[in-house]
Amino acid sequence: MTSAAKEKLVIFDTTLRDGEQVPGSQLNTIEKIEIAKELELLGVDVLEAGYPLSSPGDFKSVTEISKAVTKPIISALTRAQERDIDVAIEALKFAKRGRVHTGIGTSPLHIKYKFNSTPEQIIERAVKAVSYARRFIDDVEFFAEDAGRTPNEYLAQVVEAVIAAGATTINLPDTTGYCTPFEYGEKIKYLKNNVKNVDKAILSAHCHNDLGMATANALAGVLNGVRQVECTINGIGERAGNTSMEEIVMIIKSHHDMPVYTDIDTKRFMKLSRMVSNMMRMPVQPNKAIVGRNAFAHSSGIHQDGMLKHRENYEIIDPVDVGVTDSSIVLTARSGRAALDHHLRRLGYELKGDDLDAAYTKFLVVADAQKSVSDEDLRMIAGANSDVNANRIRLDHLQVVCGKSAIPMATVRLIVDGEPHTATAAGNGPIDASLNAVRQILTTQVNLEEFLIQAFNRGTDDVGKVHIQIENKGNVFYGFSANTDIITASVEAYIDAVSKIPS
Ligand code: KIV
Ligand code: ZN
Repeated sequence: MTSAAKEKLVIFDTTLRDGEQVPGSQLNTIEKIEIAKELELLGVDVLEAGYPLSSPGDFKSVTEISKAVTKPIISALTRAQERDIDVAIEALKFAKRGRVHTGIGTSPLHIKYKFNSTPEQIIERAVKAVSYARRFIDDVEFFAEDAGRTPNEYLAQVVEAVIAAGATTINLPDTTGYCTPFEYGEKIKYLKNNVKNVDKAILSAHCHNDLGMATANALAGVLNGVRQVECTINGIGERAGNTSMEEIVMIIKSHHDMPVYTDIDTKRFMKLSRMVSNMMRMPVQPNKAIVGRNAFAHSSGIHQDGMLKHRENYEIIDPVDVGVTDSSIVLTARSGRAALDHHLRRLGYELKGDDLDAAYTKFLVVADAQKSVSDEDLRMIAGANSDVNANRIRLDHLQVVCGKSAIPMATVRLIVDGEPHTATAAGNGPIDASLNAVRQILTTQVNLEEFLIQAFNRGTDDVGKVHIQIENKGNVFYGFSANTDIITASVEAYIDAVSKIPS
């Protein structure tokens, strides 16, 4: 489809509302503003900032985000009640463009067990809420909660009534993530064909991921006529989450026959994904589409060889388009000569013929013994060093003082190029103190971009894995370590990353 014929798909971000409903992931107002500003730079069209009546914190967040962010429409959620709407209008008073997002459950289950009501009364309440909101604001979105399990004929009556009452966007949530893409698409098609005034409003998809179909359902919605998708960064949200923004946007961008386009600056996805993951303390699964650590990592020999011959053999998206600096050809015992050659060239070594064969044999020995092969190992393999295990920087000693009302202090001894270096530092916790001490010794300027601690299993005797990502002069370096002592693992992971910076 030519770009001129495409229609705009409105991207409605609900990371800070539905996404923030995840237990244990609550953000304070300052953190929310930081994320909201990044979402603005990303180019979202609507930003749902919270549910103002639910708590003073949510009220404040909606108010402060309305002041700090001016490009997207700021949406505030309400139930279909006048008091909720009053509070939302008050919270939105600084918004350049505000939206009230009000609604009520429409499925037989919700009508009976949530509201002890009747279908007719629900339509009355919906119409009353929309008309009331329209007295204060022009932009009113109505959500028919559990639309996914609402019979289409009744849903069409609700939609027609609320559009007539002044709703400008109609949200059709698959609240429980029950629909299949076929069912959800048919639902949208039914509404498009059977609601008389449907062209007076934008239909919106809001899909949950309980059966792993949130993105597929949103796409089915788009193909059948929705022109707004509600989604979150990393697909976070209530229970199994919502449609993931990076997925739906990249589907639309990479399939040229889509009827829609978005205004999202996709190069900002990775940064925002890390930011949301870190602030909300929700690690991104390594195999997560688009933003997972392994989304552009190629480890089998056949794939690596194909990738190096022509990237598109194994990649449908250029990683640069989503803010990943490069695809990673991960060196493991399954890698072939092409991958080894690629990494040696990256480090400045050009080995040919027998030399490359010999290096490959050495490489297999190292790769078999270790999980991954570091740049230092590669330099050794290329002949720059004779000892496989000689790491240029090594942690020799770590002692930490911490505890309730103690000032966290750490003493670190590193061996750098064979020489011992000791430093002591304080910090806001034992890890911070330890890394401050390390930074006194390793003075290379780096930005810590990601710091992730994960337990392997459950239990207090568990091994903690630490992943670190640092940036130096525009290049990104990864460090990893695992230990039952997470402070040691943190220091080792940091050293692992720093030691990869070419000197
Ligand atoms: O999933 C849902 O139904 C919702 C509504 C409140 C919009 O999040
Ligand atoms: Zn939801």
